[in-house]
Amino acid sequence: MIVTIDGPAAAGKGTLARRLATALGYVYLDTGVLYRAVAKSVLDAGGDPDDGAEAAAHAEALEPAVLEDPGLRGEEVGDAASRVAALPAVRTALLAFQRRVAATPPGAVLDGRDTGTVICPEAELKLFVTASIEERARRRLEELRSRGETHKLPQVLAEVAARDSRDRARPTAPLRPADDAVEIDTTGMTPDAVFERALLLAGERLAVVEGGSGPSGK
Ligand code: CDP
Repeated sequence: MIVTIDGPAAAGKGTLARRLATALGYVYLDTGVLYRAVAKSVLDAGGDPDDGAEAAAHAEALEPAVLEDPGLRGEEVGDAASRVAALPAVRTALLAFQRRVAATPPGAVLDGRDTGTVICPEAELKLFVTASIEERARRRLEELRSRGETHKLPQVLAEVAARDSRDRARPTAPLRPADDAVEIDTTGMTPDAVFERALLLAGERLAVVEGGSGPSGK
């Protein structure tokens, strides 16, 4: 079974996706890290994250080892990631890899912006995870502070909001829920409560998927 988890920045998709994958015994792919790695590679080379041909060349040359780089998590890289992510040639270069991982038996959990709409439109379970902009900015601030980075809430809120509007407004693979996605607004929910809800949905979906190929099962 394929589970996709999409949503805006700092909505808690990563934490949820990782826990869900572990609970189900599935492989986990953070698709955002791919765009972050392309962005960092462009920035490190002194390049322009808005240049399609240049960013696509970096996407095609991406090595799996760079996905482990802790330097990918910062807000500067996040901002550049949302720039390279708006370039169709970059998205095309990363598509086959994402689909290959999604096809890993017995299943996969992917999180990002377009995993349910573009990467795996056939996914059996699609979640769209959101939270208020204030709560997401607070969560991102905590994450940045836990890594020893000093930031102020208004600045983080502005950065998260700017990234969201860029992700929503782009013509290629914009951030939006798939028509058949289940939306979870995590504002005021604990990570445990979000996980329990998602696990319940996954269990229900799995029962249908494994229940056979009759008219009600798929
Ligand atoms: O962790 P956070 O939610 O802040 O961002 P991320 O998932 O690491 O993604 C960084 C950026 O990559 C996003 O702002 C998107 O612009 C882009 N992205 C995308 O376009 N498509 C995806 N499937 C995943 C990320």
